[in-house]
Amino acid sequence: MNKTCNCGILGLGSSFPEKVLTNHDLEKMVDTSDEWIIKRTGISERRVLDEDMPTYKLGVEAAKKALADAKVNPEEVDLIIVTTETPDYLSPSMSCLIQSEIGATRAAAFDLNAACSGFIYGLSVANQFIKSGFYKYVLLVGCEGLSKVVDWKDRNTCVLFGDGSGAALLGPVEEGYGIITTYTGADGEMGKNLTIPCCYIASRDIEARGGEAKRTLWMDGSEVFKFAVKIMEHATIKVLEDTGLSMDDIKVIMPHQANIRILEGAAKRLNIPNDKVFSNLHKYGNISSASIPVGLDEAYRQNLFSKGDNLILVGFGGGLTWGSAVIRWNK
Ligand SMILES: CC(C)(COP(=O)(O)OP(=O)(O)OC[C@H]1O[C@@H](n2cnc3c(N)ncnc32)[C@H](O)[C@@H]1OP(=O)(O)O)[C@@H](O)C(=O)NCCC(=O)NCCS
Repeated sequence: MNKTCNCGILGLGSSFPEKVLTNHDLEKMVDTSDEWIIKRTGISERRVLDEDMPTYKLGVEAAKKALADAKVNPEEVDLIIVTTETPDYLSPSMSCLIQSEIGATRAAAFDLNAACSGFIYGLSVANQFIKSGFYKYVLLVGCEGLSKVVDWKDRNTCVLFGDGSGAALLGPVEEGYGIITTYTGADGEMGKNLTIPCCYIASRDIEARGGEAKRTLWMDGSEVFKFAVKIMEHATIKVLEDTGLSMDDIKVIMPHQANIRILEGAAKRLNIPNDKVFSNLHKYGNISSASIPVGLDEAYRQNLFSKGDNLILVGFGGGLTWGSAVIRWNK
């Protein structure tokens, strides 16, 4: 066992399919309008994979960029955690597919499914391995292909989601920097409000899908919406209390990107200006567990924060699950 140390983000990378699906494209597929989608969700377009392209390829690209950004070789990585609710295979895991393709030959690899909260859950796991000195470098990749599981005939859901990947290379950082705290939670009772059946499909799932045994995403949008606003407020306050920081100490809130009205609703409850809450939802829609690392990557490159700034990461999603973290930026 090595000496204990702080864990921080050493490198970031993102990747998207080239194909852009706009709201106008969706107008031709379901009974919807650009105006409705923008007003009710804030989304203008999303990226979607070609049908014959596996999702993990996005993770490979994002992972390579994060390693290059951190100036760490693939052979130095000790562990790969891929957060996903849309794996290409149940086995092998996406993390094993990525491990092989990037040449991280020494790395252990497993997938973690906490739906859209996955990146925060993964951060919490990676933090334990690095803080304890057990591993030096953990590659955390949020990798999602929601286009492969949405029902393209269901206007309630197909306008909301997209594909993408964001990766972070985590490793030891100087004292006082990096992950200050993480918080994770779940309410399995509420899980029935957002389902994607896989090896089993219950009669309740068939009923929700209009009598068809489709293994597509189904959601009670208004139940999830109410949950999301409340839990974003709760998870943000929880990590502020745990760290003794106040909202004035926080430079940027980096939330999971699901709906602009959820972000604005939570900002209002937290009594903070909307511009403190990062959003890139208009370009990508909801890319599940990839949204937070993608947002971090973009915001960092836009110089929205720098070394020593405190950030709150906050996510919520299927399960239902939630999570938040405070990071003092170390780069
Ligand atoms: C899905 C969501 C955008 C719906 O927005 P909403 O304002 O709550 O809309 P409602 O569900 O009240 O539906 C209002 C009407 O719009 C319709 N509608 C739904 N999707 C539509 C679309 N794409 N285009 C046009 N009309 C649509 C509904 O059918 C409904 O019509 P009706 O009144 O005739 O039945 C919103 O509930 C949401 O964002 N929920 C959370 C989703 C989420 O974040 N999930 C992932 C969490 S990780």
